[in-house]
Amino acid sequence: MASGHTATREKRGRELRVWDLPTRLFHWALATAVAVAILSAELDVLAVHMLAGETVLVLVLFRLAWGMVGSQTARFAEFVKGPGAIRDYLKRSRAGGEAAFTPGHNPLGALMVVALLLVLLAQAGSGLFTSDDILVDGPLVPLASGATVARLGSLHRLLANGIFLLVGLHVAAVLFHLLVKKDDLIRPMVTGRKVLPGRLAVTEPRRAPAALALAILAASAGLVFLVLRAAG
Ligand code: HEM
Ligand code: HEM
Repeated sequence: MASGHTATREKRGRELRVWDLPTRLFHWALATAVAVAILSAELDVLAVHMLAGETVLVLVLFRLAWGMVGSQTARFAEFVKGPGAIRDYLKRSRAGGEAAFTPGHNPLGALMVVALLLVLLAQAGSGLFTSDDILVDGPLVPLASGATVARLGSLHRLLANGIFLLVGLHVAAVLFHLLVKKDDLIRPMVTGRKVLPGRLAVTEPRRAPAALALAILAASAGLVFLVLRAAG
């Protein structure tokens, strides 16, 4: 396991701290920013839309970096697995209880996490080059040719449907876990803690320092700010 974490502790028959504060704040900020971006686009309030979209961009850049150097359960190397691990998880999942317990994302949910992050990155990136062809231009439109603006604008309008689909599937999967499998994933995303099933003993996932998260967030915001200023 990579370094840079706080000490590990054995927990038995109690709650396990699985999600750190940066990951939880990231999640609910992302959900809010995406909801505001979609709502404001529908209402045609494009100044708000672009601000919300740029916030999504900062958040996703933060999460991509946090997925490489952040806490154990946030790391992509920790939860992105191949088809074998997904089949194995599905088998364990049918057994339920202790067999199916995963401190962080399960290997199937991991696919959704990666898809959401990549599609949101493409959506926010293409938005910077999108124009409504009447009054409002994305901030980087002046840097691109007319053909590029037309292509990226089409991508932006097309991917919006992909985001509706992915977010719908994501929330449906979380509700399926809650209502059918009686496995509440929402509470841990709020409190950071999961209840250990049965007598299972699991080592508490290691957490990276919050100061590192703040530095990465500042760097992500700074990068987006510099890119936006590139158009003058
Ligand atoms: C626009 C709306 C949303 C987006 C874009 C979104 C996106 C994401 C992303 C990217 C993750 C991965 C978190 C990480 O590892 O950093 C995640 C996880 C999660 N989301 Fe959402 N989310 C949205 C709405 C919601 C809502 C409304 C709920 C609650 C009903 C929810 C519940 C969860 C839960 C429980 C997890 C953790 C799943 C697990 O334990 O593997 N999300 N979401
Ligand atoms: C993940 C974040 C984003 C989401 C979910 C999103 C979603 C949408 C949606 C649903 C539309 C309406 C499409 C249609 O009318 O068919 C739209 C249009 C638009 N978006 Fe975004 N967007 C995002 C980020 C951005 C960003 C960062 C910018 C620029 C800073 C931007 C600029 C625009 C513009 C200028 C339009 C108007 C296009 C038109 O009227 O044809 N968007 N976006």
